[in-house]
Amino acid sequence: MEKKPNYPLLLKQIQALLGAETDEVANLATVAAVLFDTLPDVNWAGFYKVAGDELLLGPFQGKPACIRLPYGKGVCWAAVLRKQTVRVDDVHAFNGHIACDSASASEIVVPIYVHGRVWGVLDIDSPVKNRFTPDEETLLEEVATLLTNTTRFNGGSPEKNKI
Ligand code: SME
Repeated sequence: MEKKPNYPLLLKQIQALLGAETDEVANLATVAAVLFDTLPDVNWAGFYKVAGDELLLGPFQGKPACIRLPYGKGVCWAAVLRKQTVRVDDVHAFNGHIACDSASASEIVVPIYVHGRVWGVLDIDSPVKNRFTPDEETLLEEVATLLTNTTRFNGGSPEKNKI
């Protein structure tokens, strides 16, 4: 793997980039761009939001991906339904994995909470097996919390996002 970034510094950089911005698309697009640009060996970084019984594609970086993910299938839905981060070392061994890009070999999906419910997920793919570490999982969960605390999801207010 290329050089591992300094995760606390990266979190501060993301905080600084978002500043006082609260717009959903602007903040998600910025986070997707920073993570895609900064994390080594990543071929996709972006968001899916819960839309009824599907997950709907949000801002992302990487190759075009599946726009809608059907209920209950794949890694993203596993994170929504389990209400926890799902780290998959080998996507080919994950029953039901949805391969939007055949290059993907490992994946991490982190839920984003709004008012105690899962609003959607942050999804990152890598072409390298066993790519995601516990340290990185912590960083990505902190990024998800930062978004909960700063962003007007679904037109709401960040204050109301907190549980
Ligand atoms: N692999 C995901 C689908 C989304 S793409 O990775 C961008 C899944 O199994 O849910």
